[in-house]
Amino acid sequence: MAFQRLFRIAFCFTLYTSSAIPINTFAEDNEYYSTWELQHSGKYRLVWYYAAKKDFDNNQPNKVLVHDKEFLIRPDVRPPTINGIYLLEYSRVKEGEEVLDIGTGSGIHAIFAAEKAIHVVATDIYPPAIENAKTNAQLHSVDHKIDFRVGDLFAPLNDREKFDVVFFNINFPFSAGDNERNRLHERFFSEVRKYMKPDARIYYQTSFVKNIPYIYDMLNRNGFRIMEMHMEHMLPYRHEPLFMMIQSH
Ligand SMILES: C[S@@+](CC[C@H](N)C(=O)[O-])C[C@H]1O[C@@H](n2cnc3c(N)ncnc32)[C@H](O)[C@@H]1O
Repeated sequence: MAFQRLFRIAFCFTLYTSSAIPINTFAEDNEYYSTWELQHSGKYRLVWYYAAKKDFDNNQPNKVLVHDKEFLIRPDVRPPTINGIYLLEYSRVKEGEEVLDIGTGSGIHAIFAAEKAIHVVATDIYPPAIENAKTNAQLHSVDHKIDFRVGDLFAPLNDREKFDVVFFNINFPFSAGDNERNRLHERFFSEVRKYMKPDARIYYQTSFVKNIPYIYDMLNRNGFRIMEMHMEHMLPYRHEPLFMMIQSH
């Protein structure tokens, strides 16, 4: 079975099962209308700050704390979630590496990567996300290291650009019927090799344990394999962060 084969090849596998369902904590804040912190077994904190009741009702934070950094979030940009935190927590960027962050959103992976990387390219198809990520990069004084570009997947790159590390956190579809999202992930894996240096690593977050067999097959078809995997499946709501470190066969 694909599932069993996957577990044999993954040389590092962690399954978090908390003894109790984690509880989200809401708190009042002097400056903000409310804050929300997700309790989970990872080590990076995730706190959403809501400036006003309307933002709280829309579940759209204005500021998010990720580990030790605050990120400003525009009303129209996707905030960092537990899925992004897992990708951040298990990924490793080494001193002097070149990094590509596809679908950067508010910029968290590009900005954390820029602490070590010599150069980061961050892309997003949605121009307001790129503007938001630029603001956050300035806030953390790494804007000089990050080249922000608008466009679909690899369209903003040229074929001569090669990277040591590629981040991809655009959620895998909830259902098999979501063909547009399926095609996006298929396109990513069919094109990414062109932009990878030898031995480059892809840090990929997909969500949903049930998607593993499909992902395993998609990677196989494109000549990739899972080298490391971590997941957590006891979180509230519909979150099952699934981290993979992927390399070429
Ligand atoms: C779930 S958000 C994740 C943002 C960020 N990577 C994070 O972890 O916080 C996905 C982001 O991918 C962008 N996106 C969606 N489709 C894309 C595509 N075809 N090419 C580039 N970016 C895309 C969206 O605009 C959005 O900002």
